[in-house]
Amino acid sequence: MATSSGSERFTVRPYQKKDRERLREICLATAPKKVYEDEAFRERILLMYSDYYTAFESAHCFVAADEKDEAVGYVISAPSFRRYRFKFLPLLPRLFRLSHSAAKYWLFRLCEKQHAKEYPAHLHIDIFPAYHRLGLGTKMMDALMLHLKEIGVKGVMLGCGAKNLGGNAFYEAYGFTCLSRTADTVCWGMKLQ
Ligand SMILES: CC(C)(COP(=O)(O)OP(=O)(O)OC[C@H]1O[C@@H](n2cnc3c(N)ncnc32)[C@H](O)[C@@H]1OP(=O)(O)O)[C@@H](O)C(=O)NCCC(=O)NCCS
Repeated sequence: MATSSGSERFTVRPYQKKDRERLREICLATAPKKVYEDEAFRERILLMYSDYYTAFESAHCFVAADEKDEAVGYVISAPSFRRYRFKFLPLLPRLFRLSHSAAKYWLFRLCEKQHAKEYPAHLHIDIFPAYHRLGLGTKMMDALMLHLKEIGVKGVMLGCGAKNLGGNAFYEAYGFTCLSRTADTVCWGMKLQ
């Protein structure tokens, strides 16, 4: 018999505009505590892990929603690094008063850049802590992978903080391959075609 504590309480569906604020809440709830003390840091995190995608890549985002159809987690992606680079880079100096070269440095140290040829898509996934280990990450990832395959993307990658043991265990369990590792970041990739 199905219980009400598992992932069957939730629906994985495409992102809708009404989810935007909820995604921002999830983003902050899973970010370092510093987001509540440092406004500039908070805005940067929101742009990097939520707002850019809901504004420019909303067709490639999925949520896990509860019985009230409210999102408790999201997976957001940009299928083309080239497009991401051209859309995202100009936002940085304007929003954060970074010089253009500082913004460029910031973007280009991302591991997305290093692996973009073979893995042009990248993703971020975040779930409210109360809903971890219910299989929602796996379900959202399945929905995104299917979508990326359908639109002909050849590979997807992501960078995960090296200290994020749960995140790295999740990617490994899902079947990602470790592409590179530094003291700060582990880059994971998966071929889709
Ligand atoms: C990482 C995250 C998306 C995983 O989602 P989830 O719904 O909790 O994961 P699932 O329930 O689908 O887990 C699938 C498998 O991944 C592995 N896994 C997931 N979380 C794990 C953890 N914290 N520790 C060890 N293994 C873990 C397990 O093998 C798990 O299978 P099991 O539960 O049968 O043992 C979620 O924990 C999260 O949002 N974390 C905070 C934000 C974050 O770190 N995002 C990634 C940043 S790069």
